[in-house]
Amino acid sequence: MNKENKIQRFDKMQQQAPAEEGARQYYFIEQARTLWKERFDALVDSGEAAGRYGSRLLGQLQAEGKYGTFHIATFGCQMNARDSEKLSGILEQAGLKEIDSEHADFVLYNTCTVRDNANQKVYGRLGYLHTLKKKQPDMMIALCGCMMQEPSVIEKIKKSYSFVDLIFGTHNIFKLAELLCRRMLENRKMVVDVWEGTDQIVEELPVDRKYPFKSGVNIMFGCNNFCSYCIVPYVRGRERSRRPEDILDEIRKLVADGVVEVMLLGQNVNSYGKNLETPITFAQLLREINEIEGLERIRFMTSHPKDLSDELIEAMRDCKKVCTHLHLPLQSGSSRILKIMNRRYTKEQYLELVDKIRSAMPGISLTTDIIVGFPGETEEDFEETLDVVRRVRYDSAFTFIYSKRTGTPAAAMEQVPEDVVKNRFDRLLKEVQQISAEVCGRDEKTVQKVLVESLDDHQEGYVTGRMSNNTVVHFPGDESLIGKIVDVYLEESKGFYYMGKFREDGQKKE
Ligand code: 5AD
Ligand code: SF4
Repeated sequence: MNKENKIQRFDKMQQQAPAEEGARQYYFIEQARTLWKERFDALVDSGEAAGRYGSRLLGQLQAEGKYGTFHIATFGCQMNARDSEKLSGILEQAGLKEIDSEHADFVLYNTCTVRDNANQKVYGRLGYLHTLKKKQPDMMIALCGCMMQEPSVIEKIKKSYSFVDLIFGTHNIFKLAELLCRRMLENRKMVVDVWEGTDQIVEELPVDRKYPFKSGVNIMFGCNNFCSYCIVPYVRGRERSRRPEDILDEIRKLVADGVVEVMLLGQNVNSYGKNLETPITFAQLLREINEIEGLERIRFMTSHPKDLSDELIEAMRDCKKVCTHLHLPLQSGSSRILKIMNRRYTKEQYLELVDKIRSAMPGISLTTDIIVGFPGETEEDFEETLDVVRRVRYDSAFTFIYSKRTGTPAAAMEQVPEDVVKNRFDRLLKEVQQISAEVCGRDEKTVQKVLVESLDDHQEGYVTGRMSNNTVVHFPGDESLIGKIVDVYLEESKGFYYMGKFREDGQKKE
């Protein structure tokens, strides 16, 4: 097909596409499928297909009715992991097969930009993709996710990585099939479609879940908090909550499809529902989800301490399906630094909150995020952080070195010297790990419910699962247990995980 014909074909597609966004994207998924099929048939007809895919993969593609391969690499948080499942669902329906390697027809990087090292990783891997593309010029390379919401990143890619075919952002992932058609038909080397924000939430697009028995569920998008170090509000936009009936409906369908555990996702789940036409609190939503028959476990992420209400603590205590784990980011233990961070709580308020949570739910596992080396952090400030760590005794803590993000208020503040930060980081990590090893073993020699997630990577004849409080347990078992919640006797604590024994008569305690 010559260039003019291709452009005409895309124009026609756009004219014929339904107006309603969901229907429109299903239409483009079908169109993309036709385009990939045409490309694949041409490869088969010319005899190139066997050389490109190898005879084994080619056989699989033909047997499965697929017309090529794709690979998605996901960076960053659980939000991105869930977005990747949606992107993968669209690509599967558009006729492509997911493979583990980057030797694919369509490679997509779903990027993160919360810290600079995530950006650097992407640039590094793009260099490698370029060498692959030189060998196979019709390979398509696409970038999406948080990093693409930064104009400086787009400039850099246009200038130094012009071999990239398609760029889109966090607000329009639902448009992947349409953008694919555009790139395949329009006479442009790079298609860039990044939106600054949106109030649109497109429901009901295909999703390809990584695990059959558990799933993330977005309950809200974006963030309004503007912590002074954080780039997320700039790249994920303002808070938008999904309607409770859409969330409940999605979870019911997931349960009907074999899901027993959901992770409710949002940058700040505690402020869920505030901007809905009929406002509802996160606590009310939890109570409704708890009623869904067949659902066994509910997790959620992330909670902001300033918005964690008494109502939510009560709901967590009352709802038996809500897991005994809470991730409660501290960021710093110094009230002075917390103020400059714009966190809107003090050290004392955080500690009081922890006390309240623990008296309502004794034994709950608490985890956190901590930033070391925020601008202006003194040794005294850092000692305050260590003090909170020693008092709360977290099950685990994600510790981060402060990373300067252009455009955030903290980037303009005076930075702490690197060697000082490194020293504090090492001291914090040591403290966190020591406490965690002591705390995590508290259920040793008891029987606990474990959701089996996979075969054990390290030991044959073993499986790996998670307790309600998220601690990992390895125990002898086989594939038939995957996706089931079983009673396991926790024989030995290994610090961050347990070795256990499957107990079919698990009701009896040893
Ligand atoms: N530097 C270091 N860590 C950061 N985080 C967010 N922004 C930054 C930054 N600029 C951390 C916070 C947050 C987690 C997801 O990432 O601890 O809770
Ligand atoms: Fe997730 Fe934030 Fe990273 Fe985006 S920038 S992927 S929201 S952690």
